[in-house]
Amino acid sequence: MAIIELQDVKKTYPLGKVQVEAVKGVSFCIERGDFISIAGPSGSGKTTILNMIGLIDTPTSGEVFIEGQPISGLNDRQLTTLRHDTIGFIFQSFNLIPVLNVYENIEFPLLLGKNAMSKQERDDWIKYLINEVGLSDWIRHKPNELSGGQRQRVAIARALVTKPKIVLADEPTANLDSATGEQIIELMKKINRELDTTFIFSTHDAKIVDIADHVIRLRDGLVTENYRKDKTPACGEPATAEARS
Ligand SMILES: Nc1ncnc2c1ncn2[C@@H]1O[C@H](COP(=O)(O)OP(=O)(O)OP(=O)(O)O)[C@@H](O)[C@H]1O
Ligand SMILES: [Mg+2]
Repeated sequence: MAIIELQDVKKTYPLGKVQVEAVKGVSFCIERGDFISIAGPSGSGKTTILNMIGLIDTPTSGEVFIEGQPISGLNDRQLTTLRHDTIGFIFQSFNLIPVLNVYENIEFPLLLGKNAMSKQERDDWIKYLINEVGLSDWIRHKPNELSGGQRQRVAIARALVTKPKIVLADEPTANLDSATGEQIIELMKKINRELDTTFIFSTHDAKIVDIADHVIRLRDGLVTENYRKDKTPACGEPATAEARS
């Protein structure tokens, strides 16, 4: 079963007297463990789609399934629980808490919900993640003492701390220079392999798209391409894998 499936999802936003059709009917599947890029130019619907997958926004019509469960049947409380338990977020602007140091920023999501870890397990897990993202020497530093790439590393560890099955990242490299951006995506890919976390990130940077294993391209709110590098068929839109090497 796909970890995420969209079936003919549409999203319109009212804007004064007109309706903006941000997403015009998209269908695709994301498999568990995918490392997937949602690519497309500005205004193509990337953020709108990520927000619907992230349970921050709801479709106008169509259905989003998370692990086979249709989300339209869930109330706000169920959506909040599912979001907290299943999804980690990485933002373009890092969104770290300035007064907290690296360790405390990463720990923060664990203080919000209930979790089964003991204090010692929690500490070990946070330090493991800090080591994973290469920040062991920066553990007591505050965000304003870190570079952009280091801040995004903190954000990656923070997104992973609740052990989510899915991590969503909306243009995680947009505020980084291209070399640092590639390093950040490579780090996400390493964690994707090691922890089998499904990563979904949007970008309009072709070099970053190249690092993904599965690519969904959007234009004007529609899917124009949906292919996997290993050429296994992706459900939803027809695959165009023969054009890929
Ligand atoms: N809250 C909103 N109200 C009205 N229109 C919106 C809203 N959010 C998005 N849109 C419109 O929907 C379309 C898709 O927007 P979206 O933000 O999903 O694109 P995007 O691919 O993420 O673009 P970018 O690369 O610039 O971030 C655009 O035409 C946008 O203007
Ligand atoms: Mg966007």
